[in-house]
Formats: sequence, structure tokens, C-alpha cells
Amino acid sequence: MTVRINPSILSADFVNLEREVSRIASADLVHVDVMDNHFVPNLTFGQRMVERLQAVSPIPLDLHLMIDDPDRWAPVFAESGAASVTFHAEAAADAVGLARRLRQIGARAGIALKPGTDAAPYLELLPEFDQVLVMTVEPGFGGQSFMPETMPKLRALREAVDRIDADVWLQVDGGIALDTIAIAAEAGADTFVAGSAVYGADDLDAAIAGLRQAAESAHRHGS
Ligand code: DX5
Ligand code: ZN
Repeated sequence: MTVRINPSILSADFVNLEREVSRIASADLVHVDVMDNHFVPNLTFGQRMVERLQAVSPIPLDLHLMIDDPDRWAPVFAESGAASVTFHAEAAADAVGLARRLRQIGARAGIALKPGTDAAPYLELLPEFDQVLVMTVEPGFGGQSFMPETMPKLRALREAVDRIDADVWLQVDGGIALDTIAIAAEAGADTFVAGSAVYGADDLDAAIAGLRQAAESAHRHGS
């Protein structure tokens, strides 16, 4: 299973974002947390900021939209050229219709589930998505503690993805660090968001390498 490490710029220096994305050359994608202060009690980047990031980033963007009304706004963000656009299941009126529109625009379509959101309604719909994001903290802030109680949901998704042999990435986001990444990898995650564990380190590429190695080793031991 290919491991992807996506550093979250939520923990980066917001006034130096061009430099901050240049510091993570070994990352797979750059995770960009878009928050609207309604779906979550925090506010980050708008569409113009995402467009500029897309223009200067050497690494493809992985947008995580923590916003109300993604049916209206997610396609607008996808038009920026981001490689991946993930919206929240709890906020979408028509998740499948929205995922199809995102794919038409050319983005990978992702659906995110908060810790309390059941995956069962989506297990039959997996071919409609390119990524399922299992939140391992309540969305809104970096630096929170990993919630191991979300792992049974991740396992159910891994089983369903493997059963249909679909190319659906399983992403975890929140509290992923050296001491937790193996738990999520062993439960079936292949794509790992890390904010504070990467941007809080002195050597960012060394932190990414350490996380990647820990996830790969957990996969090897699990299989
Ligand atoms: C939280 C965001 C995360 C955040 C993770 O709502 O979705 O992407 O940056 O930060 P850490 O890795 O510090 O928990
Ligand atoms: Zn995120």
C-alpha cells in the first residue's frame, strides 16, 4: 500500500506560505484546511488564497473544506486546479452529485466524516469517491489529541475498499504524529495529514520521512 504524507499548512506561518510550502519538498500533497467559521468555529483561507497557493506550490494541493454549503462552493474551489477536493458529508445536500461535479472539473473527489459520523451509508457508494477522510479529531483546530475510537470506522472502510478493489485513498487527519501514525496505518489508512508533527519540527523533511517510515512499517507488519 502506498503511503502518502500530506503536511497541513494550518500549523505553518500564514504570512509566509510560499516559503512554507517550499520547506516540504518530500511531501506527497499539501493539505489546505479551508474553514468558514460556520461549519467549524475557526476561519482560515478563502478562494483567492487557494488560487495563489495553487500558483506557487510545487506540490499538488489537497483541499479539506470545512464549510457549509459545499454543494455550492466546493466546485468553485475545484476550479482553482487543486488536485484533490474533500467536502464534509455532514454539510453536503447531495454528496454523490457533488463528487461527480468535482471529478468533471478534474479534481479527485473526497468525502470527510467527523468522528461521530457513521461510514455505513457510504460503503456502497465508494466508487463515487477518490478519497474518504476519517477525521481523527473534531475538525476546527490543529494540535488536538488523536481519537482511537475512530479506528473501527476506518477498518470498515478499508474492508469495503479492498472488497471492491477500488482506488479510494483512506485519509486520516488530526493528531497524527510518530506515536499515533502506526495505529491508523494498521487500521487501513494510506494517506496521512500531519500539521503540528511536521511544521512543529526543526527539520520538516526529516519529520515527513519519520512518519512515512512508521506508516510503512505498520503496513508491512499488518499484512
Ligand atoms: C483540523 C484540520 C487538520 C489539522 C491537523 O480540523 O483538519 O488538518 O491541521 O493538525 P494536527 O496534525 O496538528 O492535529
Ligand atoms: Zn484537515
